[in-house]
Amino acid sequence: MSDIKITRTTSSRRGDVDFDNIPFGKVFADHMFVASYDGEKWTDMEIKPFGTLTLHPAMLAIHYGQSIFEGMKAGISKDGNPILFRPEMHSRRLNNSARRLCMPEFPEEKFIEALEELLRLDHHWIPTKKGSSLYIRPFMFATDEFIGVRPSDTYKLIIFTQPVGPYYSEPVKLLAEKKYIRAAMGGTGEAKAAGNYAGSLLPAKLAKEQGYDQVLWLDAREYKYIQEVGTMNIFFVIDGVIVTPATSGTILKGITRDTFIHVLTGEGYKVEEREVSIDEIEDAHRAGTLTEVFGAGTAAVVAKVSKIKHLDNVMEIDTEAFEIAPLLFDRIDALRNGTAEDPHGWRHPVLVGATV
Ligand code: COI
Repeated sequence: MSDIKITRTTSSRRGDVDFDNIPFGKVFADHMFVASYDGEKWTDMEIKPFGTLTLHPAMLAIHYGQSIFEGMKAGISKDGNPILFRPEMHSRRLNNSARRLCMPEFPEEKFIEALEELLRLDHHWIPTKKGSSLYIRPFMFATDEFIGVRPSDTYKLIIFTQPVGPYYSEPVKLLAEKKYIRAAMGGTGEAKAAGNYAGSLLPAKLAKEQGYDQVLWLDAREYKYIQEVGTMNIFFVIDGVIVTPATSGTILKGITRDTFIHVLTGEGYKVEEREVSIDEIEDAHRAGTLTEVFGAGTAAVVAKVSKIKHLDNVMEIDTEAFEIAPLLFDRIDALRNGTAEDPHGWRHPVLVGATV
């Protein structure tokens, strides 16, 4: 018997949504899960109608940034059952972020139970169109009402869901950053901390002013080694080999990144996780051996990169000729919706008829 209290909405908003045209991030499903940490344990777990929160002006998260999140996705099988994708890995990453920001871990079995219950209630919000899915946003933040820099005693963990289409609808253009940095060794770059995203906004805005969609982050010491894009990890295809920066402490350990590495290796491609310098990418582009560049992320899925600028060098990449990025898009879509083999056991089906 579950100890999650459930209050159903009496007026679903599902009928108001045009599922053929879903903008990313703007549509919210009917319910949300909420749990509170009282300083000793997680308590008061409930699923209730999606709605606003009342916040105290001195709530610690607002002032000192103890706020972390996850981004996950669920698809739906042909027989109408939701499929969570790698929820255990998301739970582990959430707890790694929690440890780094001095926040309490949330038990994995409760995390998965909460997701299952939420999807049972809101399964009819999962889009069926190729490339669309239900985006799931778990997040945790500090709730002590106090001014002073110390870890909060109390927290909330909330999970809401959103039907979404692609995050990037067109190939993206990246500006390799030569002034600002995203993360340095020993910092919080590996955590999914809200503050990491706040710090990226000014450089991204300046990049936009120059006609670029996002920043390609380089290392904090030499501005030489590629890290990630901030909204996604990055892959290059050089001379037929797929290369991606190693997760050595400053970049997010992307779950889509990990999925792609397994899928590609399993299909016989050569994949290298290692240091990748921007000079190597420029050399490969000059030599004509750089055939694909793409981002990988839960929200972005696979985002083709059509242009990279580093200092005065502008590299154009012919996205029409890409072969590996479209293959990965098909593979992850099929994995999420249950139409491909699942040799790694990444799918976590939720039976809509069942109750816990
Ligand atoms: C995700 O991919 O889930 C993220 O959190 C990145 C953000 C750009 C939405």
